[in-house]
This record gives sequence, C-alpha cells and structure tokens, in this order.
Amino acid sequence: MGGHVILFPFMAQGHITPFISLAELLHRRWPELTITIINTPRNIQSIQSSFPNSIPTIRFRSLPFSPSEHGLPPNTESTAGLSFPQFLNLFIASESLRSQFTQLLHQIITEDGGRLPSCIISDNFLTWTVDIAEKLNIFHSTLITSSAYGTAISFTLWLHMPKLPAIETHSLSLPDFPEINIHWSQLPRQLFVPDDNFVSKYSSFLQRQTLHCFKSNAILLNTVKEFETAGLRMLEKLIIGVPLFPIGPLLRQPSPPSSSSLSLSLSSSSCVEWLDKHSPETVLYISFGSQNSINSSQMMELAAGLEASEKAFIWVIRPPFGVEFTGEFKLDQWLPEGFEERMREKKQGLLVHAWAPQVEILAHESTSAFLSHCGWNSVLESLSHGVPIIGWPLGAEQFYNSMFLEEVGVCVELGRGNREKMSCVKVEKERVKKVVEMVMGGGEKGVEMKKKAMEISDMIRGALMEVDNGNGLG
Ligand code: UDX
Repeated sequence: MGGHVILFPFMAQGHITPFISLAELLHRRWPELTITIINTPRNIQSIQSSFPNSIPTIRFRSLPFSPSEHGLPPNTESTAGLSFPQFLNLFIASESLRSQFTQLLHQIITEDGGRLPSCIISDNFLTWTVDIAEKLNIFHSTLITSSAYGTAISFTLWLHMPKLPAIETHSLSLPDFPEINIHWSQLPRQLFVPDDNFVSKYSSFLQRQTLHCFKSNAILLNTVKEFETAGLRMLEKLIIGVPLFPIGPLLRQPSPPSSSSLSLSLSSSSCVEWLDKHSPETVLYISFGSQNSINSSQMMELAAGLEASEKAFIWVIRPPFGVEFTGEFKLDQWLPEGFEERMREKKQGLLVHAWAPQVEILAHESTSAFLSHCGWNSVLESLSHGVPIIGWPLGAEQFYNSMFLEEVGVCVELGRGNREKMSCVKVEKERVKKVVEMVMGGGEKGVEMKKKAMEISDMIRGALMEVDNGNGLG
C-alpha cells in the first residue's frame, strides 16, 4: 500500500510512546506507506532517536513552539517535570499550534507534488486538527492513548464541566452513566484551581477537544477489546456514528523524556542485576509515571510502610509534588533518616532517581506487584506481564483506571491524589504495610489478583500477536 499518514501525538511521554509504537506497526504492515511524525523540535528529536536505523519512509517534521510565550521554562516541550499550573498551560498552549500545523501541512503537500496525505491521526488532545483535515478533504482519525473506560468517564465529565454538582461534599452519579458513582476526590484536578476564569477557560478547552474528537472519521484506541468490553460500550453510547477501533496494545520500551534534565543515576542493567539477586515474585516496583509525584509527607509514610513490610522494592523517586524539578536532587530530605543506606545494606530497596527501565523491570521474574499511578501505559505494561497493581492514582483518567482495575480484580487502591486536602485516603505507614502484605504476602487476595492478572496477560498477549501480525490494523 502506498499512501501517506501523518501522526501527531500530544507532548507527553504517555502519549508519544503509543504513537511511536503505532508508527512501527504501520511500517511493518505496509512498508511502502509514508509516515510523517509531527511534533515540537525537542520532542521530534527524541522521537527520531527511537528509530536508530533510519527508515526512508518514516519522516520527522517539527513545528515551531516557544515555551516562554506560554509562561513555561525554556525548552519545556513535554509535561515531564512541570508543576501543575505549568502542566495545564502546556495543555492549553497545544491549541495555539493550529496555524503552524496548517502551514506545515501545506508545505508537506507542496513538497509531495500536491499529493494530499491519505490520513491524519492526531492525539485525543489535538483534535482541533479535525477541522483542518475536513477543509482539505483528508481522512481524520483520533488516537485515544488512554483506556476506553477512563476516556468515557472523562468525556462525560468534561462535557458537563464546570457545572458539576456538589464538589467536595458528595459522590456524583455520572451524567451519562448514572449507574456509576464517583467520589469528589476523583473529579478533574483542574476544577480545584482557585481561579474561576481559569476553570472556565480549561473547561471549554476540554469540551472543544471532546466535541472535535466526535467529528473524527474514526477513533483508534490503545486498548484490547476483550479486556475493555464495558469501556468500549460506554464510549459507543457517547460517540454516535464514529467507528471505534481498539488497536492496542501499543507497547514499547520508552526512552527517558528529553525535555527535562533528569538525573539518571542507574542504567537498565543495574536494575536488572539488582532484580537478578532476588527470588521470583518478591519485589514491588513503584513508579508514578513520567510526570507526577506524591507529596513529601506521603513519601515519608510510604517509605516507613515499605520498611515495616520488609518486602523488597525498586522505587523510582523524584522530588515530591510541589517541589520544583531541577534535575539533580538529594533524597534524604524527603525520606526517613538513614532510609536509603538501611535499604541498601539490607538489600531491601533500590531507589532509582527519576527514571527507570520500567518495561524491563515489569518483565523480570522477580517483580511481584506494581505500585502505580495507573497511567494507561503503565497498566498495559504491568498486566501484559501478569503483574497485579497497587493503585495510587494522581490525576486525569487514572482515578477511573484504578476503579476499573479494582472491579476487574487486579488492583487494590492504596492512595488517591497528592494534595492533602483533596485526598479522601490518608496514606499512613500501617496502611502501606497492610496493603503491600495483602498483595504480596501469599494470602488469598494476592493469589486471586495474580491469577486474574495472568488471565489478562493472556488476553493482552493474544491481541499483541494479532497487532504484530498487522491484523489489528485491518
Ligand atoms: C499520561 C497520563 O498521566 C495517563 O493517565 C494517561 O493514561 C497517559 O498519559 P503518564 O502519567 O506518563 O501518562 O503515565 P503512563 O501512561 O503510565 O506512561 C508512562 C510511560 O513512561 C510508561 O510507558 C512507562 O513505561 C514509562 N516510564 C515511566 C519509564 O519507562 N520509566 C519511568 O521511570 C517512568
């Protein structure tokens, strides 16, 4: 198949990774297909480095983007390491790429001798591209990088923001899915910014994204049909007349984000060597994704609970929520005194600064469970290896992913959120110890969770084989 597909991911690691995986799949299935990946200059560099052997049919183009125009530190082109207000700014700034995108598209068409691309596949946060595609008569698809269940709940909330009732007092029965109740602590964080103008600006931004998404010609999802039957049905109820294609899992080994100066203290092999020294299924892996972290008192309690549980762990640590991320950091100030040394001496815990080879850790036979913020890539990576989850969702659709995973029986929620006054669960040392032991201690609940995780692993691996054969892409 000839043709030309444009791929346009949102500027966050959790979004870029599935797009790279999609590009690889498209290339494997149709080597003749030209694929152009578009992003901001720094992101495009890091995306390009994911293809060490240059492939003539995969092209990379960058859009000019000036972070400082949007109140962001220089070189910030990805959400990794941003403070919450900066993170929201980057979201809204992405909409200002409209004219640059249109210009670049025209330039590409001219260079291609006037031939139009056959399709634009844009991220769920860049759905304004649908209007541009429509004007040029180009087929438009949205790729949703999150779960179907989490996206359906997010869409219904976004469409009703900021008029959601009874924030901070009650649970909320969802407008389009009255059978589902969520607690106020699971509502979008953006609603709690103490600035009405901002809340209304952000709400209308999310509403525009959603309504544009509904105008796509097709919606692709990084999920697996057998695993997410209920979530897909919910989305079908919301999005009338647009075909949904669960084409996942779009999995791959991600590289560290390039836009923040992460201090990488350990190589992949050091983590794997450390895991090699432990018995099968004895190590807890802890990570809160590519961009978020828990707060300092939560870090203290988590550390104390881990030590008390006596379970081995690898913990990817970055500065606590609310503390600026400058690259180099000292851990002692946020952890109980002598914690790091004790963990090292007892060989109980390995603290990894900022970034770890997550997929390799989850694939290792010593890994028993994953304490995760329930970002969708992390969930798919964990379950594809049959690793059950201890949930600690921090934002976005992570709350609903955690709910879904609890219902399925592969997750126990330990904590929720990283702002004291917005969290309904206080994570204390005793609770950490209890939950870790429940999941990893060999008791009934842990055994059931493992069994279920293995069943889901089979589903995901089955779908992965289909995807690898190119069947999922039709
Ligand atoms: C974001 C949202 O938070 C998430 O809810 C949404 O589903 C996708 O976009 P993020 O928070 O980064 O993503 O989490 P996640 O989806 O789990 O993606 C993180 C990726 O970075 C994973 O692929 C993970 O393997 C990788 N990672 C993260 C590492 O390889 N090492 C790390 O130390 C941390």
